[in-house]
Amino acid sequence: MGFPEHRLRRLRGTPQLRGMVRETHLAVDHLVMPIFVRPGEQQKSPIPSMPGIFQLSVDLAVEEAKEARNAGVPAVLLFGIPGEKDPRATEAYDPNGVVQEAVQEIKERVADLVVITDVCLCAYMNHGHCGVVEQHGDRFDVLNDLTLDLIGQTAVSHAKAGADLVAPSGMMDGMVRKIREALDENGFERVPILSYAAKYASAFYGPFRDAAESPPQFGDRSTYQMDPGNRREALREVALDLEEGADIVMVKPALAYLDVIREVRDRFDAPVAAYNVSGEFSMVKAAAANGWIDERATALEILRAIRRAGADIVITYWAKDAARWLRS
Ligand code: PBG
Repeated sequence: MGFPEHRLRRLRGTPQLRGMVRETHLAVDHLVMPIFVRPGEQQKSPIPSMPGIFQLSVDLAVEEAKEARNAGVPAVLLFGIPGEKDPRATEAYDPNGVVQEAVQEIKERVADLVVITDVCLCAYMNHGHCGVVEQHGDRFDVLNDLTLDLIGQTAVSHAKAGADLVAPSGMMDGMVRKIREALDENGFERVPILSYAAKYASAFYGPFRDAAESPPQFGDRSTYQMDPGNRREALREVALDLEEGADIVMVKPALAYLDVIREVRDRFDAPVAAYNVSGEFSMVKAAAANGWIDERATALEILRAIRRAGADIVITYWAKDAARWLRS
């Protein structure tokens, strides 16, 4: 049976009716706001490719976290820009590192906010790769197993500072197991792991690398991050991370990988997060600045689409704005 018995427009007549039959809801409860933390005091450095987003010193990061919480955002995700970079990423696991300090201050001063830390070495390495690098003439290797020790130490240092959740993003094999063991050995068996399980080698990270000052100084990340052409491999990555003890699994980026989010949602019962990454944000910002697109409508449509694809949690630079938009 089709038309004229069926007219799907019947249920689209009013906003109330449309609301009653809407299948997917976007609420502030799902959103996570990333914050970039840098050394210093009263420092607020704009990131040119991400209008409205700043590198903040710890004091101002606390204010930003407060604002996000007051807007209703339940969680923040911290990234550090260290004072010094070196080939061992020393500041990544320094108890007095910029992220460790920020976690401590935010946990002390902002009530009821979930503080998540990105656990990766790239911003702390002088070469910008996510692991320990071995050079062979003009070739190089990112050493997996040597890197795991440093990642484990970094996660423990974040937990000691008070992190509620740690989020390894380096795409090293075995990173989730290593972190789980390290956390448990240090009495943090209750700190969950949000694994960047299916993280693609993506051009959409460009603006983030400005923000975190973390572009690789040579080569690219394709020997550890995933090939954008692969879908089945993402399912294997997720299965392995869950087996190793991940509590939440992430697909990243989000927009160009909605099919992967959907497939992970359908195949696994763990909570799924999606990262609406820097490039996805900057494209809309740039078009909006030109008057070519409506930022608010586009952003909300994107965030809803990511939810519709199956994400429980959406990490987005629009978190604070979206919280405001959703209320009005
Ligand atoms: C660190 C990391 C990256 C992002 C999150 N964690 C960049 C990268 O892998 O180069 C990207 C986030 C974004 O683009 O918004 N490994």
